[in-house]
Amino acid sequence: MSNTNTLPQPALSALDLFARPFHDDAPYVGGIGAAWAPGRVNLIGEHTDYNDGFVLPIAVDRVVAFAGRARDDNIVRLWSTQFAEYADIILDGLPESFDEQRAHLPGWARYVLGVIAELARTGVKLAGFDAVVHGDVPVGGGMSSSAAIEVAAAQACMLFSRGSFTIGAQDATLQPIEVAALCQRAEHIASGVRSGILDQAASCLGRAGKAVLLDCRSLEYRYLPFGAPHISLVVIDTGVRRELAASAYNERRSQCEEATLMLRDIIIQNEPENPSANVIRALRDITQEQFARYGAELPDILRRRAGYVIAEDARVMETVALLERGAIEQVGPLLWQSHAGLRDEYEVSCFELDTLVEIARQVQGVLGARMLGGGFGGCTINLVRNDAIYTLRQAVDEQYPARTGVQADFDVCRAAGGPGSTWVNY
Ligand code: GLA
Repeated sequence: MSNTNTLPQPALSALDLFARPFHDDAPYVGGIGAAWAPGRVNLIGEHTDYNDGFVLPIAVDRVVAFAGRARDDNIVRLWSTQFAEYADIILDGLPESFDEQRAHLPGWARYVLGVIAELARTGVKLAGFDAVVHGDVPVGGGMSSSAAIEVAAAQACMLFSRGSFTIGAQDATLQPIEVAALCQRAEHIASGVRSGILDQAASCLGRAGKAVLLDCRSLEYRYLPFGAPHISLVVIDTGVRRELAASAYNERRSQCEEATLMLRDIIIQNEPENPSANVIRALRDITQEQFARYGAELPDILRRRAGYVIAEDARVMETVALLERGAIEQVGPLLWQSHAGLRDEYEVSCFELDTLVEIARQVQGVLGARMLGGGFGGCTINLVRNDAIYTLRQAVDEQYPARTGVQADFDVCRAAGGPGSTWVNY
């Protein structure tokens, strides 16, 4: 029923692998199909999403894929190739049975359970399925492997529920941005991290050759051309992941909320005539001029956190203006600035991330680099002239392990399309 040429490689591999863990003859219906969704990088706009601000992500050519077949009962049975383990989810009783089921599932399957529970909450009719879960998004590496598995799970549920709900077109049950919001809720309940909508939106809205500007308050978005033939997007993985990330993330979010309330009160006191002062709901509502005037009245930590976020939102808009003019090379300096803010003011970087950015900075032809995603490990994103890729790689190989004691992983990515699903024989 489909042309498998259009499937991303991990989806093809998942289809090939399906027979191995699912050689039993469980009761099933219909044929074999695959569903997938991409990971993302974020060009700029880090830690702005939960401040109702702006982000500028790019879906990349790395996906998480599900391949399998529908069952005629209420069980979703998964096999993860990456973790080499099964996980069973029982559809009956969701979303109420979520907590009980979550307790018995490995981390990766909790995201799938979260999506299924949130889909059940919307009232769509779900069917059981067997699927292999396979992918090439580095796990926990800042390219949003969790968002990719969530969005791919939503696609798989749609496929295997055979038409009981649809995602995508205008008259579909769920619009892509609604799927993103649903997957964000799934992430919250699965992981306990109060993450913003950046990762899930980036995965749902991916388009080849484009970056997407998303207003995280209105959820309006538009595409911008991203890329030039002589420039590449290089992602370098520090090889480190820190447990601290989840609690530090929630702490940053609370600090931003606290800073917003304080700044709101200060602005109301000082500008009683200003009608917009009363509607300050997030750092997004505070202008750079207002922050320059009143920021000093905040306690030091809150001043630095808010200062970073307000400046980062402005950098997103500057980047948008540059991309619109095709001036991609000039985006580079904004990436260095973003990293400095994340390191010094927002304090979510770490030694390994800083080391990768410092190494990149010494290489001629690296236009800009910064840490990517939540921080405390994971990856950096580097905007690099093609003729400097080799030198950058050499510099990282020579210096990074010696300075940090860890190996880095080097990856050249492309701005790629969003999620998809298809039957391959039905
Ligand atoms: C993580 C979160 C996102 C976003 C980034 C930081 O990736 O999941 O919502 O807040 O960190 O920009």
